[in-house]
Amino acid sequence: MTSTDLLRPHAEQAYADELAALAAQDDRPRPPSWRLSPRAVVDYLLGTTLPDGTVITPKYVGPRRLMEVAVATLATDRALLLLGVPGTAKTWVSEHLAAAVSGDSTLLVQGTSGTSEDAIRYGWNYARLLAEGPSREALVPSPILTAMAEGRVARVEELTRIPSEVQDALITILSEKTLPIPELGTQVQAVKGFTVIATANDRDRGVNELSSALRRRFNTVVLPLPATEDQEVEIVARRVAELGASLELPPVPSAMEEIRRVVRVFRELRSGATADGRTAIKSPSGTLSTAEAISVVTSGMALATHFGDGVLRAADVASGIRGAVVKDPVGDQVAWTEYLEAVVREREGWGDFYRACRDDE
Ligand SMILES: Nc1ncnc2c1ncn2[C@@H]1O[C@H](COP(=O)(O)OP(=O)(O)OP(=O)(O)O)[C@@H](O)[C@H]1O
Ligand SMILES: [Mg+2]
Repeated sequence: MTSTDLLRPHAEQAYADELAALAAQDDRPRPPSWRLSPRAVVDYLLGTTLPDGTVITPKYVGPRRLMEVAVATLATDRALLLLGVPGTAKTWVSEHLAAAVSGDSTLLVQGTSGTSEDAIRYGWNYARLLAEGPSREALVPSPILTAMAEGRVARVEELTRIPSEVQDALITILSEKTLPIPELGTQVQAVKGFTVIATANDRDRGVNELSSALRRRFNTVVLPLPATEDQEVEIVARRVAELGASLELPPVPSAMEEIRRVVRVFRELRSGATADGRTAIKSPSGTLSTAEAISVVTSGMALATHFGDGVLRAADVASGIRGAVVKDPVGDQVAWTEYLEAVVREREGWGDFYRACRDDE
């Protein structure tokens, strides 16, 4: 099986060629255990053309400085916390950072309310534990313990969903860079290159706050929503093309027009005003993230490919948009209908879009 058979290869698999080309041409100093220099890691994220002509595609679209701060943090003894509203590429950036720095983005702890200390420290293979007693062989290391032992980047997704007392298991790891294993009378000391990238959603309600003791171990980088419509269109177009290729959807010609409309609708509803700033509109309760725009367009492409004429049309994105906008069937439906009537209906060149959305209801 090759990585093209996989539904979703890891970043280090999908971009293996780019990473190899960067490493080959990177003559700057690399921190201990790093595969690339910090500068090359930022080039990998933001995209560039190498002296030999190899094109490095942009993964992150946004301020270069943010990525420089993030990468510089990883080169210190502090951990990195990526914070932001949903769909601002926190997980995406964390995966690519780990792939570029350690060549491995898979040392991952998914934070949930059920995450236990074992998932952060280590557990046991109980059959062996009972048969042989505590031993190295019976120990099941967490991804974090593995990252410590190998000097790699560990990732913690959705840190604030983890119960506070479990989060605190990270404090010793991050401050002492050591994980005691009392059962074996030993400890694992982190090898240089070990660090943690955590992500957290600042919109999650009712989740566990980060304790201040833990927060002090992290440098926080806040990822913003795309600043302009053009930027957001670029992000959506790029990701849709990549996802379409991996789902083996044929490239859909002239999808740009629909992509721009989807992005416009999302941005207007999100901000509560039309793009020209003239008309105030009601914002629905959903987050209407860039990630959702990507999935609306990707689903539309699948519809156009399999049930349409292969051209992405308003009708292919209409139900996806409504699904993303109307999360609460009462309030959001009112906001959506108002928006259609007050804004979309009047907009020049959007007649097909208006009809497709009304037909969908
Ligand atoms: N600025 C950006 N540059 C590149 N891709 C982006 C950007 N913003 C969003 N995306 C795309 O949006 C998709 C979703 O991003 P991701 O899942 O990383 O979001 P998240 O911030 O982790 O959201 P959540 O809080 O829901 O976990 C990814 O496919 C990513 O490529
Ligand atoms: Mg995420």
